[in-house]
Amino acid sequence: MRWMRWVMLISWMIVGSGIALVLSCASKAPAKTEMTAEQKVVRGRYLSTIMGCADCHTPGTFYGAPDTTRMLAGSELGWQGPWGVSYARNLTPDAETGIASWSEQDIVNSIRTGHRPDGSVLLPPMPWQDFSFLTDDDAFAVAAYMKSLPAVKHKSPDRILPGAAVTGAVLAFPPPPAWDAMNLPPPPAGAAPGDAKKKTTM
Ligand code: HEC
Repeated sequence: MRWMRWVMLISWMIVGSGIALVLSCASKAPAKTEMTAEQKVVRGRYLSTIMGCADCHTPGTFYGAPDTTRMLAGSELGWQGPWGVSYARNLTPDAETGIASWSEQDIVNSIRTGHRPDGSVLLPPMPWQDFSFLTDDDAFAVAAYMKSLPAVKHKSPDRILPGAAVTGAVLAFPPPPAWDAMNLPPPPAGAAPGDAKKKTTM
């Protein structure tokens, strides 16, 4: 009966090493797969859709009819508040009126930190504070999608400083009520009415 003990011992060794192998595989993180350029663009399109980029940056979206032939090509609808009037800009890679000269890294920096490559700050209601939580993979996917868009020639109206005359369609935020105004940041530097710049295009 000695041979039976050997058989038992060997079977237990085989079962044991099997369990050890399963456990070691389970504890390892799954290998990270790089997205292909095409997968990045698809993910970027998905993210920019659910993150609402088109709400502000595509003409017609706020009127219930986004113009899909001019995706993210900027809007003529102004946002008026203590910062003056801002306009969602043309994000397509048009050399003259869009952001063709921006690298993917520039786009990622601006949506995560609220600063353009020239150092200027993005005004409300561009919600970069929310986008600062984007992971690298997601932020670069959004940038890759932006770079893949057809270039559309459209100059968004220039920003209007507080106190300057306003023409054209604006969504105006009245002065904030007490509760909302409690932690309002100071108006942007150089925003005194005397510095007001006339809007050049509509
Ligand atoms: C609620 C409206 C709104 C949403 C949503 C929004 N933006 Fe904006 N965005 C703006 C406005 C307004 C500006 C212009 C701000 C200024 O004048 O400083 C802007 C500016 C920008 C700029 C700077 C472009 C330039 O030429 O200066 C980039 C890049 C940008 N947005 C990307 C995005 C992306 C990407 C998303 C989605 C992930 C997004 N925005 C969502 C309103 C919005």
